[in-house]
Amino acid sequence: MSEKEHKGTPDSGLDLSVHIGQLVMPNPVGVASGTFGYGEDYDELVHTDALGALYTKAVTLEARRGNPAPRLVETPMGLINSIGLANPGVDQFLQEKLPLLRRHRCAVIVNVAGSTEDDYAAVIERIESHLAAEVLGPEERRGVDGYEINVSCPNVHRGGMSFGIDPVLIERLTRSLKNHTGRPLILKLSPNVTDIAEIARAAEAGGADAISCINTVVGMSIDTEKLRPAIGRGTGGLSGPAIRPIGVAATYRVSRAVHIPVIGLGGIARADDAIQYLLAGAQAVQIGTALFSNPRAPHEVLDGIVGWMRRHSVRAVRDIRLMLQ
Ligand SMILES: Cc1cc2nc3c(=O)[nH]c(=O)nc-3n(C[C@H](O)[C@H](O)[C@H](O)COP(=O)(O)O)c2cc1C
Repeated sequence: MSEKEHKGTPDSGLDLSVHIGQLVMPNPVGVASGTFGYGEDYDELVHTDALGALYTKAVTLEARRGNPAPRLVETPMGLINSIGLANPGVDQFLQEKLPLLRRHRCAVIVNVAGSTEDDYAAVIERIESHLAAEVLGPEERRGVDGYEINVSCPNVHRGGMSFGIDPVLIERLTRSLKNHTGRPLILKLSPNVTDIAEIARAAEAGGADAISCINTVVGMSIDTEKLRPAIGRGTGGLSGPAIRPIGVAATYRVSRAVHIPVIGLGGIARADDAIQYLLAGAQAVQIGTALFSNPRAPHEVLDGIVGWMRRHSVRAVRDIRLMLQ
């Protein structure tokens, strides 16, 4: 097992590994950014060693308090959120959250957000210089296996989405961030664009190692008695089962447009949902909103994928994407 591999996936006799740049994830099921914190709140409920990857809550250069309440509202088929990237900032992340993340043996991918190209670069630079300055024992994990670059948050005024809708900016940002780290860079794209495949091609041209697809879809709910939007900022990001067909279609289009791996997400709650993404072209998946009602969803999804692979005589999870007729 190489330095970058992690233990913990049940021995299924199948090849569940996912290769992203130099990183090998032990299995294709991860937990999505913003729905799992930094891993600390789910200790009792989710066996993180059995996850393929943990994608952290967004980390920005400065601390952010986030958007005004209410920040979450339920809809018939999901949630609208407008958290606004609330997080303690990179310095506190390094002091308080990174030591906790080291306890997890799954791959840890740090989700990075910013308002400008320099913001994103500064977050990665601080993390890299912190890691480089540390002296760790041979058994200690670094705690950061890669970065997921959030160019797709619909809930902030500046940054995020303004990168995510412009292929020129995406290519430039990706190229610039590659100069700051040797760890894999995963660009997380927004579905709120005309042509997501064009954005994915730009990320690949800039040197991205993978694409996460998709972030939330802009949505709104209105309280007809209070005569106000149901969430403080007006519009927010819709997640959950309502967006699954949008995510599957985006994955299908993006995976045919690029050669790098695609990580599919949006509305996955059960194994069948995840298998749709894998057939559409994803090599891995993430589970977000479903965790709120069923923290065991990642384990159930992984077990279901293994059962499906046995029934369909598929040995390697990466081969599922070749099976779509
Ligand atoms: C409460 C909440 C907070 C989120 N925060 C982030 C975030 O910090 N960074 C990010 O890239 N995506 C964030 N997302 C988006 C999710 O990671 C995911 O892309 C989206 O919810 C679709 O997946 P799902 O339908 O399985 O939840 C957030 C989603 C929710 C519901």
